[in-house]
Amino acid sequence: MKKIMLVFGTRPEAIKMCPLVNELKKRKGIQVVVCVTGQHRQMLDEVLSVFRVVPDYDLSIMKQGQTLFDITANILERIRFVLEEAAPDVVLVHGDTSTTFVTALACFYLRIPVGHVEAGLRTHNIFSPYPEEFNRQAVSIISRYNFAPTQLAARNLIQEGKDPSTVYITGNTVIDAMRYTVKEDYTHPELDWAGDGRLIFITAHRRENLGEPMRRMFRAIRRVLNEHPECRAVFPIHMNPLVREAADAELRGCSQIHIIEPIEVFDCHNFEARCYLCLTDSGGIQEECPSYGKPVLVMRDTTERPEGVEAGTLRLVGTDEDVIYKNFKELLEDKEAYLSMTRVCNPYGDGHACERIANILEGKAYSAWDGADPQMERR
Ligand code: UD1
Ligand code: UDP
Repeated sequence: MKKIMLVFGTRPEAIKMCPLVNELKKRKGIQVVVCVTGQHRQMLDEVLSVFRVVPDYDLSIMKQGQTLFDITANILERIRFVLEEAAPDVVLVHGDTSTTFVTALACFYLRIPVGHVEAGLRTHNIFSPYPEEFNRQAVSIISRYNFAPTQLAARNLIQEGKDPSTVYITGNTVIDAMRYTVKEDYTHPELDWAGDGRLIFITAHRRENLGEPMRRMFRAIRRVLNEHPECRAVFPIHMNPLVREAADAELRGCSQIHIIEPIEVFDCHNFEARCYLCLTDSGGIQEECPSYGKPVLVMRDTTERPEGVEAGTLRLVGTDEDVIYKNFKELLEDKEAYLSMTRVCNPYGDGHACERIANILEGKAYSAWDGADPQMERR
């Protein structure tokens, strides 16, 4: 029996790892152990309960306003004992958070093989996103199994010198999660509030955007909303106090925006599927919206997800106030420009990533996801 431990700690990792936990649990030759770092608390626990995953270990490291030093030191110190006690054959980590980097480092110190889910995403700029680009590159040095979501991600790894026999193209597990979340008959009071108006969906949290860049983002959004009274914006706000500070300073009193507490993943996917467009600096939302054919203005200078830009759904607009203002306004006022971004496509997976990863770990036959997209259509 192979013992596989999955370690994760933040909301997006949980959304993308819980479907894998549940798939691995179905496999007879695998014993599954789940360790959460608790880098996020409430936002993590919500996802665990949606997917009915109960962790075997919880490092409970989160504190308010935590620094990168806090996260790194606390996880490194606590995970050592979990890894020594559980003695897994393989540890799976996800993506690019500090939980991911520190866990991989601890596994390296203990010589435990690491499998990296969502491997190979790159901007090639170590400060953007910060510290995620460093985290994922560092994990790639350590990892024994590299589960790349796309062909481009696999190419990035091989170009960096990873042994191609350790790189598997699986699709992204978030697309697997989405098979269970979006419902035709979904309703929500915020959607009722938006009514027939155009629903604008907003999220923001990136560390490099905290402070002035985030204030510029919010100012641009408010200016456009002022000019478009038919728009209703819903902004489920991240729990980071610095995000709340910026939103309070720039968006307070704007009756067209509802700033609400973080919503469950089920709600989030249904909001995305029903919005007119999305403004975000999130990574995961860039992967989800192409499946719904919803235009995304990505409020960042770089993206590690160029597949969505190429497919036409994502537009990189940075954090300059005037640039965001112009792009947002254009999508509201220029029908052609808007429609050119509404092609439904799935550059990030076909919903079978977890099965592929489980097959590989079980030593069974695996057929790579070829990146072809049979569902492409024009809305
Ligand atoms: C982290 C990840 C980032 C990922 C994001 C997803 C790192 C360095 N950053 O950033 O890659 O995109 O998660 O959301 O790994 N907080 C709560 N409750 C929660 C969650 C957060 O109160 O459930 C507050 C706390 O005050 C915490 C702060 O938010 O200190 C920031 O959390 P942190 O994990 O450090 O950074 P994120 O911006 O969430
Ligand atoms: N999400 C959610 N509730 C929210 C906001 C986002 O469930 O209120 C989901 C979203 O659908 C996506 C993931 O959280 O799957 C993205 O998380 P986040 O933007 O925090 O992190 P990133 O993807 O940028 O690392």
